[in-house]
Amino acid sequence: LNNGLALTPPMGWNSWNFFACNINETVIKETADALISTGLADLGYVHVNIDDCWSSTKRNSENQLVPDPKTFPLGIKDLADYVHAKGLKLGIYSDAGIFTCQVRPGSLYYENDDAEMFASWGVDYLKYDNCFNLGIKPEERYPPMRDALNGTGRTIFYSICDWGEDDPALWAGKLGNSWRTTDDINDSWASMTTIADLNDKWAAYAGPGGWNDPDMLEVGNGGMTYQEYRAHFSIWALMKAPLLIGCDVRNMTAETFEILTNKEVIAVNQDPLGVQGRKVHVTGTDGCLQVFPLLHPFLAYLNGATDCDMEYR
Ligand code: DGJ
Repeated sequence: LNNGLALTPPMGWNSWNFFACNINETVIKETADALISTGLADLGYVHVNIDDCWSSTKRNSENQLVPDPKTFPLGIKDLADYVHAKGLKLGIYSDAGIFTCQVRPGSLYYENDDAEMFASWGVDYLKYDNCFNLGIKPEERYPPMRDALNGTGRTIFYSICDWGEDDPALWAGKLGNSWRTTDDINDSWASMTTIADLNDKWAAYAGPGGWNDPDMLEVGNGGMTYQEYRAHFSIWALMKAPLLIGCDVRNMTAETFEILTNKEVIAVNQDPLGVQGRKVHVTGTDGCLQVFPLLHPFLAYLNGATDCDMEYR
């Protein structure tokens, strides 16, 4: 999407992979604090993105979205002001259907009102999900929110989350700054490598302004080994994926921190040319060694077999 944003893939944090619905304004503020105090923000991780469950289960009498009064009593504008004061950006979440996946109100048919509300709160990024979509094609449901965001006069990153339905790489380049290419990731080697292979197919469609999105990072959530998380981060980086941290950055291990702060790997992701690295070579009877070419560093990752080690060249 030619809105001046996403000239390189977005970097930041999202609440879903670790917290799911257990979010509140304290978690969001402490996460913003941690992005600053750990130095992650200085490396480019500036988006603080709230996922599903921030909203009340019902709109108010004027049909407006309302933050859950128990978990977000001070509201979203307060959070936006808080993160902006730290030089960070605030992301919010809604759905191109009548409910979100966790059955909060969706924005289908309320696109203009909701976009105005997000802009008035100072939101910088919208992730737009795909649940309860009434069977309407995503190609019809996603453009109205692009136009609504555009109409607010505020520049807002538009993240299309239709789980790869109808091959969004083929049509979402004019609509969004990123588009999910697959179903949800989970914190396992099998999920991560399956998603990497599915995302690989759409490499030609990524570039400045619009990126394939193989879902958020699981680094630090406990389901993979140190070597596997290194591979996960490296592959996401070279695929020019959004680098949205999905762990609790207030409580990272030294290993998690080391992986997420590798400056050379981040530099591959943030290369201004924006060419998505592709898998070019698979060798070994078990498909063990798989090679992705890069300008620098030349990186290989090993697929599945437990007696393989990571290999960088
Ligand atoms: C489905 C999305 O793919 C996930 O990333 C997350 O946003 C959940 N919905 C939230 O309900």
